[in-house]
Amino acid sequence: MQVLVTGGAGYIGSHTVLSLLQSQYDVVVLDNLSNSSVESIKRVEHITGKSVTFIEGDVCDKAKLRQVFSDYTIESVIHFAALKAVGESAQIPLSYYQTNVHGSVCLLEVMQENKVNNFIFSSSATVYGEENQVPYVETMKLGTPSSPYGATKVMVERILADVALANAKFRGVSLRYFNPIGAHESGMIGEDPKGIPNNLLPYVAQVAVGKRDKLSIFGDDYPTQDGSCERDYLHVMDLAQGHVAALDWLNCHGDFTGVEAFNLGTGNGVSVFAIVNTFEQATDQRIPFEVSPRRAGDLAAFWANATKANQALNWQAKRSLQQMMIDTWRWQSNNPNGYLEQ
Ligand code: NAD
Ligand code: WQD
Repeated sequence: MQVLVTGGAGYIGSHTVLSLLQSQYDVVVLDNLSNSSVESIKRVEHITGKSVTFIEGDVCDKAKLRQVFSDYTIESVIHFAALKAVGESAQIPLSYYQTNVHGSVCLLEVMQENKVNNFIFSSSATVYGEENQVPYVETMKLGTPSSPYGATKVMVERILADVALANAKFRGVSLRYFNPIGAHESGMIGEDPKGIPNNLLPYVAQVAVGKRDKLSIFGDDYPTQDGSCERDYLHVMDLAQGHVAALDWLNCHGDFTGVEAFNLGTGNGVSVFAIVNTFEQATDQRIPFEVSPRRAGDLAAFWANATKANQALNWQAKRSLQQMMIDTWRWQSNNPNGYLEQ
């Protein structure tokens, strides 16, 4: 069975490609390498001993997509390709709508032309917006995210619902990720942000490896136990295996049509201070930090109710917070410059 993975050279995509190969799926990756390196795919091939068909291309390029569907027998699509920096999305919103929304529409159109109906979408906890109470559960209405990035995820989820209404054979899954961190246990693949990291763990790891002086903790006056924000951090390999579980579920439920959303998280909220402490203890590294003003748009605390994925997909986030820190550090210390030549 061939699975088309868009954005498969990226952080979550590369770990998912690895898990798919280890679960006997054949993978075709389409990625324009705008935020990744083909080196990640080479390393996945090295770890698994299996080969990946890699195609450099853009999800907005319908001619390229048509060529892919004509050259390969694609049965399912996992759609990671997107721009994902929340702050940047407020500065260049049109690029975000173009890549994330228009790109998804192009892909869905070409899938429809080729009668491919199995679609797994990278959604986000951000779709719950500010209105919903924690823990987030899939039965809640989609909210109003504060960023254009978040809005693109809500829009694509709405588009999927409409596609399913119009096409009785469509079989869609929206996986709503919480905060993926960590790296494959080999230390060979991991998160390789360009420029100054926006997300917490890449920043912490770059402080530990000496590339940044200190971490800024954005706010210690939130209504949480220690005053810093709480998030539901999950290991990227658990998240990767969540995609395999979702694909297995689609393949085992031949009569399913429509769209189902699943939260992929641990169900636990962890504070920024707790992340710093756990990283220091697990890796024996010191993380100098200062408390800075709150970051615009941050919510105080959110985490998943992951019962639906636990029960329906038989999936659970298994790896501990300590493991997430150890694996982050193994990747960062082995690859201080990411996929660039050392
Ligand atoms: P990433 O940037 O590492 O991966 C995205 C990949 O898509 C990159 O390899 C990039 O080169 C590629 N890409 C971007 N635009 C493209 C285009 N027009 N055509 C083809 N390829 C393109 O990001 P990630 O963290 O692996 O995120 C993957 C997906 O998961 C994204 O859709 C993101 O919005 C979603 N998501 C991520 C997080 C997170 O915290 N990392 C949380 C929730 C959802
Ligand atoms: C985590 C916590 C920060 C950096 C984002 C997106 C979300 C999803 C995951 C895609 C927050 C604090 C951070 C730093 C800090 N992505 N922090 N100092 O904001 O929960 O979620 O990524 O869908 O949509 O919004 O993740 O890693 O940026 O922040 O104190 O240098 O760490 O304030 O509380 P976030 P994050």
